[in-house]
Formats: sequence, C-alpha cells, structure tokens
Amino acid sequence: MINTSILFIIYTFIIFLFNFSFSDISENWQLSFQDPATPIMEGIINLHHDLMFFICAISIFVSWMLLRTIWYFNETNNFIASNLTHGTFIEIIWTTTPSLILLIIAIPSFSLLYAMDEIISPSITIKTLGHQWYWSYEYSDYLNTENETINFDSYMIPEEDLELGHLRLLEVDNRMVIPVNTHIRIIISAADVLHSWAVPSLGVKCDAIPGRLNQASLFVKREGLYYGQCSEICGINHGFMPIVVEVVKLPNYIFWVSNKLGE
Ligand code: CUA
Repeated sequence: MINTSILFIIYTFIIFLFNFSFSDISENWQLSFQDPATPIMEGIINLHHDLMFFICAISIFVSWMLLRTIWYFNETNNFIASNLTHGTFIEIIWTTTPSLILLIIAIPSFSLLYAMDEIISPSITIKTLGHQWYWSYEYSDYLNTENETINFDSYMIPEEDLELGHLRLLEVDNRMVIPVNTHIRIIISAADVLHSWAVPSLGVKCDAIPGRLNQASLFVKREGLYYGQCSEICGINHGFMPIVVEVVKLPNYIFWVSNKLGE
C-alpha cells in the first residue's frame, strides 16, 4: 500500500520533470492562475498569496468568534449570560486592528498598482481596436515604401476549421506578434462598443472604450503563445473574439515585420 503511493509520487515527479510546460491557457479543474510570463503577472500572483495569508488568519479568527458566540448563547451551555455591553478598550482594539491590517496590505498593493501603470520608454507601440466581433492590430512604428503601416484583423477560427491540437474558441487567424524581453506599449481602444483586451499570463486586462485610448505595458520574459479573451460583454459574439499573442525572438520578429510590410 505505502509502496504504491510512494511509486505514484515518484512517477508524478518524473512526469513533471520531463513533461513540464507552462500553462498559458485555462486547464480542466484549474483552481489558481495561469503561469506568469511578465513581471507584472508575477507581482499579481505574489500579492494574491500575500492577501491569502491575511484572509486565512481573519477567517479562522472570525469563525472561532462566531462558533463560540453561538455555543455560549445556548441556555444549557451557559446558564448565566454575560452582562457586558460595551468597553472602550475592546472597541479601540477592534477598530485599530483591521485598519492596521489594511495599512499593511496597502503597501504592496500600491507598489504593484503603480508598477502596472508605469510605461518604461517602449521600443514598440501597438494599437489594438476591439470590433463587434474581432480584434484589429496596428503597428504604426513601421512604414513601407508606399507609406503603409502594418494593419490587420484577427478573427477567431470557427469550430469546423480547427486542426488537430488547436484550442476551441481560442485560436485566431492572425496573431499579434511581439518580440521577447522587450518593453512594449499597447494602446487599446474600440470601434463600436465596450470590449476588454485581456491575456491572463501577461497580467493585462484593459477596457477598450470607443473614443478613448487606454494603454498598458508588456514585457514578456519567455517565448510562447498566450491566449486571452474579450472580457467585457459586447454583444452576441462576445465569447468568440479571442486574443492570441505570439512571443518570438527578436530576429524572428524583424522577419515577420519585413514580411508584413512587403505584403
Ligand atoms: Cu468584445 Cu466582449
């Protein structure tokens, strides 16, 4: 009995070692976040873990207080009731303790908030527009000989056109391509109604608002495919306008850009 469970643990560990891949899509029975690919997403996950500590401590304390109160409210358990109605000392404690906890939480929370807002002299600026119901991307840093910029639409691949290994409702025909380890500014807006450009592994969820430009920064630390979905109810096909970000090495990005400009 013990032998088989030890074997199972070793087996799982070996599978993990040799079969390891980052999770940049949602998985069955997933409980936590997708794996982070940007420093911002790492920060978000760390803050989540920090907050979980306080949540656990507070939940245990409050549950204990409630159960104790319920137990002693019963006549058979506690025949003579307490006649305590108020006390300055206890009131000072239960007012200051929560505010101190909030202050402690505020420090890492604000530093993360300002880090997310920071735009560090971006090398590339990409504009994405939400449409009913697809995304379009503009790379206006580059011009070809006819003075044209890179501009393309990104539609979901419908279920009947999926190939083996494709992810249902997540694949697109034209991916947004960016280089790895580069500061990128993404400008987000919409052409018709509210949309939201969100990619969990990159730690970005930014509203796309008609007539307004929002910006977010990206610094992706590893190559890969990152999947996201529109995250603002935008109409009948809201669930069918996914986002795919392909992160490649810089030479491959330059190749992609020159190819696009040559089109
Ligand atoms: Cu676009 Cu929801």
